[in-house]
Amino acid sequence: MKILVIHGPNLDLLGNREPEIYGKATLVEINKKIQDLAKEKEVEVRIIQSNHEGEIVEEISNSKEDVLVINPAAYTHTSVAIRDAIVARKIPTVEVHLSNIYAREEFRHKSLIAPVAVGQISGFSVDSYLLGLRAAISYLKKK
Ligand code: DQA
Repeated sequence: MKILVIHGPNLDLLGNREPEIYGKATLVEINKKIQDLAKEKEVEVRIIQSNHEGEIVEEISNSKEDVLVINPAAYTHTSVAIRDAIVARKIPTVEVHLSNIYAREEFRHKSLIAPVAVGQISGFSVDSYLLGLRAAISYLKKK
């Protein structure tokens, strides 16, 4: 079982970026937790972060993994291109967010990704990624 984890724009700044919203954990620390859980569950995880929409589109299109766990960050609310890439690649997708996007500004309430995802996890900080990974594994096992 192979899983691709994508972190979208500005998530490389975690730790320093609005810690009252996104927490104090750095991306390196989050990735370590993801890899620790992957080891425990005996799945292979590849993790990338990109600030560029086109690069995320290409990573999805060229992916060889069975499932995608993605925090599209700001592109959640704007990117038809990332949504279309998920649909074109037919890759089962779990959308995750550190913050609860529905408890924030109205422009964050709409996700262009959610309608083409298996499901969405939002608001559990670092645990959103770990819950997302568990959901992805469980989804694949049932398939
Ligand atoms: C985010 C929520 C988005 O609205 C925001 O643009 C982000 C992070 C989250 O993980 O809570 O960059 O995806």
